[in-house]
Amino acid sequence: MMIEPIKLNDVYPWGHNLAEYKAIFNLDDMDLRRPLVGFADGTSSVNSELTQLGRKMVSVDPIYQFTKQDIDRRLNDVMAQSEQYWRGLPEDHRQQAIAIAGSRVKATKTFLVDFELGKQQGRYLPTALPGPFAFPDNTFSIGLCAHFLLLYDYYGLAFHIQAITEMLRICNEIRIYPTLNLHGQKSFVLDDVVNHFSSNYRVHLETVEYGFQGMGEEMLRIGGGD
Ligand SMILES: C[S@@+](CC[C@H](N)C(=O)[O-])C[C@H]1O[C@@H](n2cnc3c(N)ncnc32)[C@H](O)[C@@H]1O
Repeated sequence: MMIEPIKLNDVYPWGHNLAEYKAIFNLDDMDLRRPLVGFADGTSSVNSELTQLGRKMVSVDPIYQFTKQDIDRRLNDVMAQSEQYWRGLPEDHRQQAIAIAGSRVKATKTFLVDFELGKQQGRYLPTALPGPFAFPDNTFSIGLCAHFLLLYDYYGLAFHIQAITEMLRICNEIRIYPTLNLHGQKSFVLDDVVNHFSSNYRVHLETVEYGFQGMGEEMLRIGGGD
């Protein structure tokens, strides 16, 4: 499948935070002390939060080609659209949607404060999967990919195999969440991805304590171990 270059109007600045990534990926303190890379990290605040803790993370996402002002403006547009949508919801759903959005906006604002400095420091790279990436083999211990691979299964199996092969070249292991697609069904590419990489890597489907908003409680872990 041909991947179109990303446009500003395609950007949804709705980020997750470090506490959520820890739950999503079963990350423990030892994991967080290792060099990490986040693929499709978007406006998540994880890189910013880990940097403040003195840890090392690089984030990769095509939206990092845009400026802080571009992404901030887009955040305001998306907020305005969402507020219009929330008005039509029953009260309890509206309150729930507002609370979730509050957390996503907070993460995005934390990201935005850090973005320009992080870009200068090479922590936010404006590159897209499937790569290739300008890193030597095994640069990172763990590669994380939240809410992109497997979820957008319409990108197809060839895209997934190419992307994951490149991720495994630069990472000792990778973790992908969720294993469901946008319709809440098992990702159509999951079985073929598992079969493809099982011949050369340890591949596990692992339970996680996240399972938020119908995204399921399972992540895919490839590589790592002995
Ligand atoms: C739903 S967001 C998830 C953001 C972040 N991982 C999180 O959980 O908060 C999906 C992200 O995938 C990014 N994306 C889209 N196409 C991509 C590609 N080809 N390579 C890497 N990231 C891509 C988008 O820019 C967006 O930031």
